Amino acid sequence: MFLTREEEAILDGEMGEGMRKAMELLVAMGDIKGAEKLVPVSRVHVSGVSYKTIGEAGLEFLRELADTGVGARVLATLNPTGIDLENWAKLGFEESFASKQLGIVEAYTRMNIIPSCTCTPYLSGNLPGKDEIISWAESSAVVFANSVLGARTNRESGVLALACALVGKAPCYGLHLDENRVPTFRVRVETEPMSEADFSAMGYYVGKHYEGIPAFEGISPGIDELKALSAGLGVGKVNMFSLDYEGIQETVSFGKEELRETYEELNTSEDVDVVCIGCPHCSLQEIGGVLRRNPGKDVWVFTGRQNAGLFREKGRVRIIKDTCMVVSPLEDLGIEAIGVNSAKAAFYASHLSDIEVRFDSLENLLK
Ligand code: F3S
Repeated sequence: MFLTREEEAILDGEMGEGMRKAMELLVAMGDIKGAEKLVPVSRVHVSGVSYKTIGEAGLEFLRELADTGVGARVLATLNPTGIDLENWAKLGFEESFASKQLGIVEAYTRMNIIPSCTCTPYLSGNLPGKDEIISWAESSAVVFANSVLGARTNRESGVLALACALVGKAPCYGLHLDENRVPTFRVRVETEPMSEADFSAMGYYVGKHYEGIPAFEGISPGIDELKALSAGLGVGKVNMFSLDYEGIQETVSFGKEELRETYEELNTSEDVDVVCIGCPHCSLQEIGGVLRRNPGKDVWVFTGRQNAGLFREKGRVRIIKDTCMVVSPLEDLGIEAIGVNSAKAAFYASHLSDIEVRFDSLENLLK
């Protein structure tokens, strides 16, 4: 891979050990992917934040890196943590977990990564424009950025996104290049997806069974439905989709049968301890929708801190920020089964945490 003189100098350690490590990561990834050069990025979104997922080794790595004095050179935001950073004690999270989690956030903050702690950076001020070159981790946000916003990012790992933030550049390959951003197959939608859960189920099904860039025919999703579709696709191998299917020959179908099969696969329980909404984190519209229904059961609404402060909790609805039903240790709170309207949450709750799941539409979950 071609490196400029400045990039060579960073790789030689002239700007310190932390920057050398970051550049080493970018060059290694660039070489693996056949990138010809690095490109400047304007924004970064970093994942790998919850102590539940990165553990002690992750915390140590971040502390050591922060100790070298490195800092993000561009706007960089952070994915959800394992706790609500302010209300963790009230919610029942253990002090031993919380102190580790706060250590992780402190290390990221020392590196100038903004502790936005949300997986919807685009709803919290990290909003790229069309063709903007960015470097995002968090699969649901990557799909949304490429497909809905028209920005350009590969699906970075958390560590690589962090390295991109420190250097301000990313290896130029994959979805940064025009030729790789062309839809490769059409998905003819033969059932009308009615709920956000249906959109997320469709995304999950397509991402699980196909690779490439799908172009959906027969849907007119709103913004929250696009968010749900993006998250579902991101569970699988898809990093971008399109709604422009003209001229695409290869066609697959998604109908009632595929929808039924997906619900059947993801449902493991009828009864739930709590309904968890907000995978990806809820928009203002979604939070307002839950509060207006005033459900007669426990509902936890997960969202970004910017949104959380705008609402007052009501009845049995709690508004929780900085974390989500997947990356927080819900099992430590004695929760055994949750209701979700997100295929991504359904998949990871049962695979990462051994929590039983009822996957259904919001309407059905709140009945
Ligand atoms: Fe976000 Fe957690 Fe889902 S990070 S996309 S709410 S698994």
